[in-house]
Amino acid sequence: MQTNPLWFKDAIFYELNVRAFADGNGDGHGDFIGLTQRVDYLVDLGVDCVWLLPFYPSPLRDDGYDVSDYRNIAPLFGTLDDFKTAVEALHQRGIRVIIDLVINHTSEQHPWFIESRSSLDNPKRNWYVWSDTDQKYQETRIIFLDTEGSNWTFDPITREYYWHRFYREQPDLNFDNPEVQEELLDVMRFWLRLGIDGFRVDAVPYLFEREGTNCENLSETHEYIRRMRATIKAEYPECILLAEANQWPQELIPYLEDDEFDMAFHFPLMPRLFMGVRKEDRADIVHILEQTPAIPERTQWCVFLRNHDELTLEMVTEEQRQWMWQEYAPETRMRLNLGIRRRLAPLLENHKGKILLLHAIMFGLPGSPILYYGDEIGMGDNIWLRDRNGVRTPMQWDSSAHAGFSTAESTYEPVIDDPVYGYHRVNVETQASDPDSLLNMLRHYIRVRRNQPALGRGSFKMIHPENQSVFAFERYYEDPSGHQTRVLVVANLSGSQQQVVLTDLENCLGTTPYDLLTDAVFEPIQTTIYTIDLEPYRCLWLQLHVEGDLMKEATSENLYENR
Ligand code: GLC
Repeated sequence: MQTNPLWFKDAIFYELNVRAFADGNGDGHGDFIGLTQRVDYLVDLGVDCVWLLPFYPSPLRDDGYDVSDYRNIAPLFGTLDDFKTAVEALHQRGIRVIIDLVINHTSEQHPWFIESRSSLDNPKRNWYVWSDTDQKYQETRIIFLDTEGSNWTFDPITREYYWHRFYREQPDLNFDNPEVQEELLDVMRFWLRLGIDGFRVDAVPYLFEREGTNCENLSETHEYIRRMRATIKAEYPECILLAEANQWPQELIPYLEDDEFDMAFHFPLMPRLFMGVRKEDRADIVHILEQTPAIPERTQWCVFLRNHDELTLEMVTEEQRQWMWQEYAPETRMRLNLGIRRRLAPLLENHKGKILLLHAIMFGLPGSPILYYGDEIGMGDNIWLRDRNGVRTPMQWDSSAHAGFSTAESTYEPVIDDPVYGYHRVNVETQASDPDSLLNMLRHYIRVRRNQPALGRGSFKMIHPENQSVFAFERYYEDPSGHQTRVLVVANLSGSQQQVVLTDLENCLGTTPYDLLTDAVFEPIQTTIYTIDLEPYRCLWLQLHVEGDLMKEATSENLYENR
């Protein structure tokens, strides 16, 4: 793998659940052997880095986000050797690996908690947050609203309450305890020694608690993250830290400044992309991007459409939340906590044009995109499964039994088998052989995206045409050799043909727009006013060429091969 500490800025990420991806030993659960067998698929897809959801030993109350041993692999998913083999196989093919690091809490079955709750004077007592009253930290919101009525749970053994931000089976660790701080740094070292490339750090804002605050984003939390970064970067400079902090941009920014994270998910942007395409109006997207301050050069946003959780509506107004629920989750069963537990394709009514449009916008915006496994083939969901399991069903590889995911008699959750999204219709094999399939279109987008440093690294400027159904922006990049690239992203959010008049094109005079996605060449820009006709849901990535450049750029495909 080439050395490049800023590799994540140009990378396409792929989030996958080992349990859901491929079952290598025929027990009905995906595992590391299965993942190793499917590396080719990831290479063909063109992703640069996979993010593995938690695979640690766990009672699976929260699908692995309830860890009972930080230094091992859940037997269902394999052994540490299987893990190493998978990481090596991915590395050999140029794909990096980041793993989920769940440090805010453990499982109640972690030996530390078993000890901690065993007596008031147990040496591990102080590893968790205990109190003789459940009245502390009253200003703290409850996250798992549908199941938990309080962040405190009474423990009958020692007759005190313990603190938990998520399920009661996930007691929060006490970060005020230096032993806890030290231990978790050591857990990170353990995985880094096994060769991983970074961590997606779970539930970042909640590490510390202080009376009189909402117990989120406290200065103590920032301080610990700085220490975490300093410790691991000293030993592993290319290792990255990605923050899961579901917060407004102004709360998120400090995590990227001051030597903390390399990347952070842009949570508030995501629901607004869905608003934009449903309302056929760019206003909400523009509004949140205007509220997003610039971030340091060495950092990057992570942009996404869906992930393994509910489509969170925490970072929207109450009015927007009601609107999103009404439009995207008409049945109560589709809702969970403050969100929507559905996959991308069903959310977008299985409309290929809309699915491609949102990807084209996401790939064009500042930030590195993350795809959620299965969305690249338009997998459906199963709202009859509990919690978020309905969006975590087995990957659909082909039309054989259990979608080619497993040879077992039954799988950890049933494969999607409905008439629209079922594996007979929706699977990798069928789509791989169809040049116009969603999978092949997205492979193409990924390929083009990876060759465009302007999209990974360029500056960002929104354009405000009169037509509100069109969302447009410019990315501009000058590489170290002085070569300049300008890409105009112009997206029609509506289901009807739109004409857009772009103005203020002084910088673009004399150039010829060339759509990187379709290879279409447009009329040269000769005045500062330029009119484009856009088909329904069409998104153009217009690279602006000065004369003579066109041929040279059109063969840039070669870059892709030199990963
Ligand atoms: C994060 C994870 C979610 C999990 C929670 C508690 O939000 O994405 O799946 O339930 O943390 O660990």
